[in-house]
Amino acid sequence: MKKTKKIGIMTTGGDCSGLNTVIQRVAYGARLRGWETWGILDGTDGLSVTPPAAIKIDDLTLPIENARLAGSFLHNGRAHALNFETAVHRGKVDLFNKRLRESLDQLKLDALILIGGNGSLSLAWSNRKTYRDLQLVCIPKTIDMDMPLTDRTIGFDTAVQQLTSFCDQLMLTARSHHRWFVVQAMGRDCGHLALNAGVAVGARAILIPEIKFDINALVNHIKNAPTDYGVIIVSEGITMRGHSGRPADMVLRKLTAAGLIARAAFPEHTQRAGDTIASDRILAARFADCALNAIENNETYVMTALDGDNVHTVTLADFVSAGEEMHDPKIPDLMTSNAYVSPDEPLLNVARDMGIYIGEQK
Ligand code: F6P
Repeated sequence: MKKTKKIGIMTTGGDCSGLNTVIQRVAYGARLRGWETWGILDGTDGLSVTPPAAIKIDDLTLPIENARLAGSFLHNGRAHALNFETAVHRGKVDLFNKRLRESLDQLKLDALILIGGNGSLSLAWSNRKTYRDLQLVCIPKTIDMDMPLTDRTIGFDTAVQQLTSFCDQLMLTARSHHRWFVVQAMGRDCGHLALNAGVAVGARAILIPEIKFDINALVNHIKNAPTDYGVIIVSEGITMRGHSGRPADMVLRKLTAAGLIARAAFPEHTQRAGDTIASDRILAARFADCALNAIENNETYVMTALDGDNVHTVTLADFVSAGEEMHDPKIPDLMTSNAYVSPDEPLLNVARDMGIYIGEQK
């Protein structure tokens, strides 16, 4: 007879829209297979307490109509709790691992689905001795889209939509007042979010960490623009030698000094919110299905990934080695990874052809 499985699922790291869709699709698909799903609360924090913080998920726990809502219904963790990240910082890795193991022994899970970003997946890989016999299947999520070996991460498309909608609103008031808005995008050291939203909005300029820019060239570009209003998107990861403060403020100061009328605007965490858009929900359904199939096929230490039109699994070992950050040879002090915007990214040329200032590098 087919053995009933007990699987766990948890969301770690920063939240984003799409997490609830993944959880709902996993729980539903598991039920159809005759398996039980347990949601671990607050990511690995929930495994560092006794008894472990976990709830059984059924169709009523996360109804389908709520699966589109942003945030994680399982929570993503508390700032000061004991989890992988804080344990490393506080030198309490042994204690954390002991509690994690005790919790896993108590929960008696057959498999665990970890929905996380670069940090959580790398930590899970380095901590594989503690997870031992548990089947670990990861699903990539982040608005930064800075994870290697996958063409998309859960939450990215919705974040692009959120940032685009934010800029669309500003565009109207910008036109009324003949002024420029410098909008600061999230994304850490990675420019995918700013680049995609900038092209969607029709920004007049997009500054991302991966591409060198000349601030005077940007100012001239804005001065010579066919309109006296618009949006300039800057990634939070850009730097300007000799300047400090928030990147949008740095750029704003230069524009104002050149006589342009401008304001800075910060969408901040609204980029991680918003109802999950259809493409993220479809990706969530595909990744959930892939993760359940991986469990069925006895795969472990794998991550679901989108490669062109196909969803498949890649090993965590390959993921970790592909994503290593290194110093950018062209921009001193900048860390880069092959998951970041590459100089061959086709959208860069599209942006240039739209008359968007995107930096100096060809
Ligand atoms: O990694 C996701 C992200 O939203 C980044 O884009 C941003 O820099 C960071 O997290 C913000 O983190 P916090 O929510 O801790 O302020």
